Amino acid sequence: MTLLITNAKPYGEQAVDILVEDGVITEIGTDLVSDDAGVDTEVLDAGGHVLLPGLVDLHVHLREPGGEESETIETGVHAAALGGFTAVFAMPNTDPVQDTAVVVEHVRRRGAEIGLCDVHPVGAVTVGRKGTQLAELGTMANSGAQVRMFSDDGSCVNDPLIMRRALEYASALDVVIAQHAEDHRLTEGAQAHEGAVAARLGLAGWPATAEETIVFRDCALAREAGADLHVCHVSSVHTVAVLRNAKAQGIRVTAEVTPHHLLLTDGRLTGYDPVNKVNPPLRTGTDTQAMREALAEGVIDVVATDHAPHAAQYKDAEWAAARPGMLGLQTALSVVVHTMVEPGLLDWRGVARVLSEKPAEIGRLPDQGRPIAVGEPGTFCLVDPDAQWTVRGAGLASKAANTPYEGMRLPGAVVATVLRGRVTARDGKVAV
Ligand code: DOR
Ligand code: ZN
Repeated sequence: MTLLITNAKPYGEQAVDILVEDGVITEIGTDLVSDDAGVDTEVLDAGGHVLLPGLVDLHVHLREPGGEESETIETGVHAAALGGFTAVFAMPNTDPVQDTAVVVEHVRRRGAEIGLCDVHPVGAVTVGRKGTQLAELGTMANSGAQVRMFSDDGSCVNDPLIMRRALEYASALDVVIAQHAEDHRLTEGAQAHEGAVAARLGLAGWPATAEETIVFRDCALAREAGADLHVCHVSSVHTVAVLRNAKAQGIRVTAEVTPHHLLLTDGRLTGYDPVNKVNPPLRTGTDTQAMREALAEGVIDVVATDHAPHAAQYKDAEWAAARPGMLGLQTALSVVVHTMVEPGLLDWRGVARVLSEKPAEIGRLPDQGRPIAVGEPGTFCLVDPDAQWTVRGAGLASKAANTPYEGMRLPGAVVATVLRGRVTARDGKVAV
């Protein structure tokens, strides 16, 4: 299988042609066209657009098994491929929970069958994500699913002793613990970021300290265990300060921010539209600004979508009853262009770092997030940086339509995605 990509600008730099044979880049040059392309060569004219390594998402909810009314692995990876992603990490808050080898192997196998995007199941840290008894991390790590990331996402591993033990196992197994940092005692009944907007709307507050204190505690535990800790969806300016301090001490902590925490604030809550309900909650302009600066600086390492589809029956409800979560896979790149590239906080090298290279490193994926160079995997995301498009939830590939960007015009469009030499999406359509 041979793919010839013509007129592509790796990282937005010099235009080149790229030959991919059997999934690997074998030649990069100019005018590769006629000589090197055989009869069965597929040609992808990149039109002078920006070529990045395939995007890697450390945090998605694919809902299968058990939540197929909101998303399936198939609809989820369609959204991923269309969004430029070539690998995703599927969170374990499924039913049954991804806390045994059987369940994680099922998810991995289903992803491989579809073949459009590598699906890496995240194993639960505790049995049933209940927070009381460690799951068999070693069994999942050594299973066919090769689990390298564990999380109780959706819930925090709130018990410090359980978290300590999990980090000790993680250190021994060379895996990473991804913490949904939320002290549940501090967020009981919480409905919105604790601040002026929540007070005015009469919504119980989710204090930023519930995140900050868990991150502070976990950094200390990770230091002691010599383990890798990853902090999910950082949302508060105060958490950034904790991360900065921990990194300065050499603690092995990494962190992610979601596109929605880069762009959206609690100012959107005034109409009580549950499409804006998410956990952690949308916070203030001070927080979004802090997220952008921390990401530019590397205090926050990566962007991860927290793609959280919810069928209308769960989302179209009164605020308190609606489930938290937002779609993210097909809008992530555009939101990063809008919040980071347009203001000059990241260039295309930086985008490749936060959406591909660093997440692949954290998730321990040896053949993702690689440089665009001869001998490296032919795994790419092609972006038209000048395109503008209007988001319509109904037109997205996800089974659910809960996008907070409905009707918004966003810059930058993914025009093609390539996984190991195979075009998985092109011009808004998934390859079949
Ligand atoms: O908003 C959220 N939705 N936050 C989470 O932690 C879980 C997620 C979900 O599963 O819907
Ligand atoms: Zn979470």
